[in-house]
Amino acid sequence: MGGILLKALLVKKLLSPQATVATVAHEDRARTLKEKLGIAVGTDNRSAIAGANSIFVCVKPQVVQEVMEQIRPELTADQLVISVAASVHTRQIEDAVEGKLIPVVRAMPNTPCVLGQGMTAICKGRFAKPEHVQTACALFDTVGKTVVVDEKHMDAVTGLSASGPAYIYIILESLAEAGVKVGLPRDIATLLAAQTTLGAATVVLETGDHPALLKDAVTTPAGCTIDGIMELEEGKLRVTLIKAVVKAAQRAKELANS
Ligand SMILES: NC(=O)c1ccc[n+]([C@@H]2O[C@H](COP(=O)([O-])OP(=O)(O)OC[C@H]3O[C@@H](n4cnc5c(N)ncnc54)[C@H](OP(=O)(O)O)[C@@H]3O)[C@@H](O)[C@H]2O)c1
Repeated sequence: MGGILLKALLVKKLLSPQATVATVAHEDRARTLKEKLGIAVGTDNRSAIAGANSIFVCVKPQVVQEVMEQIRPELTADQLVISVAASVHTRQIEDAVEGKLIPVVRAMPNTPCVLGQGMTAICKGRFAKPEHVQTACALFDTVGKTVVVDEKHMDAVTGLSASGPAYIYIILESLAEAGVKVGLPRDIATLLAAQTTLGAATVVLETGDHPALLKDAVTTPAGCTIDGIMELEEGKLRVTLIKAVVKAAQRAKELANS
C-alpha cells in the first residue's frame, strides 16, 4: 500500500522525488525500489523522517509500535503522521510517542489508488487540527475519493472499502468465467464484466439513485435479468457479501485488540 501511494503521489507531483524518502525492512528491497522509483530508499526509519513535513506509516499493524518507537527521538510536533495501518488506533500511535503531542491522522485507503480510483476514509487523532485533516484529504484526493469519518467507523471502512476490491475482483473473475461458460472468448468476457461493473458503479455515484431502483430499471418483466437475479438470490449472494464485510470488520477489531 505504501508503494502504491508513493508511486501515485509522485506521478501526480504532490511529492517531489528530491524531497521524498522511503524506508522498507530489507536492504535488497530498498536498492530495487530506489532504482524503480528514483527516490531515496533506505532502512533507517529514524534518519528518514528528519525534516519531513508528513510521515506515512504503511507497515503492518503489528509493526507500527516498533516503528513509532524508532522514530520517536526525531519526531517533532510540527510533523504530521499519517498511518494507513488497519486496526491501529490514533491513540496507540500517540501513546507510542508519549509526551510529544504529535498530530496523527489515520487513513484507510484501498488498492485502486494506484490508478487514481481509490477510496480513502480519514479520521483524526487528539492532537490533529483541521488543517492536518485537510492536508491528508488533499493527498488522498489525488488518488481517488476521500471521506472523513469518526474513528469508531474505521473497522467498518476496513471491512467494506479497504478489503472490498478483493471481493469485487472475485465477482469480476466469476462473471468472466460465466462469460466463458456461455461461449465468449475470455478476453471479451473479462472486458464485458469489468466495464459493466465500472458502468454500474459510475451510475450509482453520478445519479445518487438507490441501487435497488437502478436494478429494477434493468429488470424487464418476464425478461432475462429476473431469471439471473433469482439464481443470485438462491445462491445467497446478498447475505454472503454482507457476511464477508461483517467478518472483515470483526477481524479489523480483533487485530486492534491483539
Ligand atoms: N493492502 C491493502 O489493500 C491495504 C489497504 C489499506 C490499508 N492497508 C494497510 O497498509 C499496511 C501495509 O499493508 P501491505 O498490504 O502494503 O503490506 P506489505 O505488502 O507486507 O508491506 C509492508 C511494507 O512494510 C515494510 N516494513 C516492514 N517492517 C518495516 C520496518 N520496521 N521499517 C520500515 N519498513 C518496514 C516492508 O518492507 P520489505 O518490503 O523490505 O519487507 C514492506 O514494504 C497494513 O497496515 C495494512 O493494514 C493495506
